[in-house]
Amino acid sequence: MIDTDSQQHQATQPNQATYDLSLLESSAEKWDQSPGLRTVYRSIFNQMELAAVGTRWLELGSGAGFFKRCCQNVVTSDIQKTRFVDKAVSAYAIEGAPETWDTILAMDMLHHLTTPFRFLESASKALMPKGRIVLAEPAATAWGSIFYKLFHHEPCRTSTIGPPFEFQSNSKGEFANMGMGQALFKNHKQATQSKLKQMGLSLKALNYRDVFAYPSTGGLSKQQIFPTRIIKLLLKGEALLPQAALRVLGLRMIIVLEKTP
Ligand SMILES: C[S@@+](CC[C@H](N)C(=O)[O-])C[C@H]1O[C@@H](n2cnc3c(N)ncnc32)[C@H](O)[C@@H]1O
Repeated sequence: MIDTDSQQHQATQPNQATYDLSLLESSAEKWDQSPGLRTVYRSIFNQMELAAVGTRWLELGSGAGFFKRCCQNVVTSDIQKTRFVDKAVSAYAIEGAPETWDTILAMDMLHHLTTPFRFLESASKALMPKGRIVLAEPAATAWGSIFYKLFHHEPCRTSTIGPPFEFQSNSKGEFANMGMGQALFKNHKQATQSKLKQMGLSLKALNYRDVFAYPSTGGLSKQQIFPTRIIKLLLKGEALLPQAALRVLGLRMIIVLEKTP
């Protein structure tokens, strides 16, 4: 388990991997073997695509490149160049001239960042006016907190996240806190919005999703529990749930930020 409370903390460098990239091979294998997992991820990617604008899209922290398998119209990247991505890009220093991208997307990356606002500042500079940042993140809702604490190896501790929103990696240089999205965009919404405003960004939408369909896939490390047709039915049912229920039960959140013109 990644220990965020370790006494041997280190400051994270812009190009330092806070995630064990050797895990990507087994993630890619699981993706190939699990139709249920692909179904749920596709549904998440569809929602991200719907929130995106323009045609020039950059994905950060692409990992094993799942997003591009569903949506060709994207440049993929990660902190290091791997066989899965087009190029190496640090979320803290997004490449290209200012105002290069229409949309910057990232799935499950934010909660690995020790300085999330440094990423948002860099993303804001790299975006066209009215461009968007679309993030999919674990949601530490009531059900999400229980689920991730019981079944996920990375910490989920919203209580350790607060201003100035700067964190330190453990002695191995790794960092994760599954509570990041909920802490920034729900628990500390006001502080976050004021920081976003200084960067020329605003929170356009915050939507919750995924209750039982995702756990039924076994995620990236366990076996699929139910047949894919049941997972598809669960997904359809969950899509009908009101946001008021998903704010309590959702395992994932989709965060959409917009650059003010
Ligand atoms: C949990 S994985 C998610 C991978 C992929 N997006 C997915 O959903 O399968 C987190 C990814 O974020 C990347 N990452 C972490 N810190 C980063 C940074 N500062 N800049 C760019 N990518 C980063 C990691 O290298 C890793 O590939």
